[in-house]
Amino acid sequence: MSTVVPLRTPARRAPRLALLGTGVVGSALVTRYERLQAAERPLPSLAWLANSRALHDCAGSPQRALDDANRAAARTDDLPPWAEAEALHAGDIVVDATASDAVAGWHAEWLSRGVHVVTANKLGAGSTLSRAQAIAQAAADAGARYGEAATVGAGLPLLRSLRALVAGGDRIHRVEGVLSGSLAWLFNHYDGMRPFSNFVRQARQAGYTEPDPRIDLSGEDVRRKLLILARAAGLPLEQSDVRVESLVPAELAALPLEGVDAALGQLDAPLAVRFKDAYRNGGRLRFVGRFDTERASVGLQVLPADHPLCGGSGTDNRVAIYSDRYDEQPLVVQGPGAGAGITAAALLDDVLAIAAAR
Ligand SMILES: NC(=O)c1ccc[n+]([C@@H]2O[C@H](COP(=O)([O-])OP(=O)(O)OC[C@H]3O[C@@H](n4cnc5c(N)ncnc54)[C@H](OP(=O)(O)O)[C@@H]3O)[C@@H](O)[C@H]2O)c1
Repeated sequence: MSTVVPLRTPARRAPRLALLGTGVVGSALVTRYERLQAAERPLPSLAWLANSRALHDCAGSPQRALDDANRAAARTDDLPPWAEAEALHAGDIVVDATASDAVAGWHAEWLSRGVHVVTANKLGAGSTLSRAQAIAQAAADAGARYGEAATVGAGLPLLRSLRALVAGGDRIHRVEGVLSGSLAWLFNHYDGMRPFSNFVRQARQAGYTEPDPRIDLSGEDVRRKLLILARAAGLPLEQSDVRVESLVPAELAALPLEGVDAALGQLDAPLAVRFKDAYRNGGRLRFVGRFDTERASVGLQVLPADHPLCGGSGTDNRVAIYSDRYDEQPLVVQGPGAGAGITAAALLDDVLAIAAAR
């Protein structure tokens, strides 16, 4: 008598979790994973973690694997260490806590194999339109989930609110927001008297900016977040559809990283003028990303002090959504939108949601 083999055998295996990226966010994720594990939350087992240098099995202790990976020497091989790892199977979950374009290039491939992807890396859904569409298509075809709540607002209920409105038949008219925690902090603190460059140094020391603050000041990070939001709202925007006003003068942009700190003073005079003009008219400077059905832009704006985007403090993100339903008064989502702890929490929320939906 022959044995009946269930058709979906691989999906019956217990799902495994794999983590790429052992930096600030990856480390916070391991800490939170161990805390949730101790609280007996139903998490998939963390099988392995990797950075660009090494891959370590987490069977003994995730924290030990993390420490070992972070101690690893630079790799000479062309292939990343995880390319040689045991293949991930349908139902497994890979977490991308890198800022790597090469890793983001794998998102659609993993999804097409039925592997769920949870990401803090904006280069998946926030770079070229063709990549974002390939990701959405692969997820739909294979029935795999793409968890991207950590990419915009570090898990604030932004993407999910937009998607819920669209699913409910609402048309999104306009979205505008302070989408960068570091730029929010800078313009919440800049007083027009002390040099702007001093605030940039302070923000970098506090860990609010990227190690190279030009990545924040150029508006590129906000452009990626705006693209992710616009695409979630149903607008198939290309990167070139977003007009970006960089705060970084061309001379500063051209410098190697080692030369940046000494040249940050180049930011001061132009921003002092902008601040004075705004202040004279009772306005506030805010670095805003905005799209409507016709255009999209990222840059510094003068807003009236009572504008919905002028509230919030510290590194708060603040986003206003206008739709059929929220026509005159927008739906406003506000809260801390940066930081390793809340980003790791957003990633693990997505992991738990995927595990619970199986
Ligand atoms: N920090 C925050 O508050 C925050 C908030 C929201 C979102 N994010 C996003 O989260 C991501 C991670 O940020 P982070 O601050 O943790 O960065 P990070 O500290 O610079 O860590 C990046 C990690 O990615 C690894 N990596 C690079 N290329 C890789 C590859 N090809 N394969 C595997 N690992 C690779 C690096 O490994 P090596 O050390 O070997 O190079 C490193 O462990 C970024 O996309 C960032 O934009 C960060």
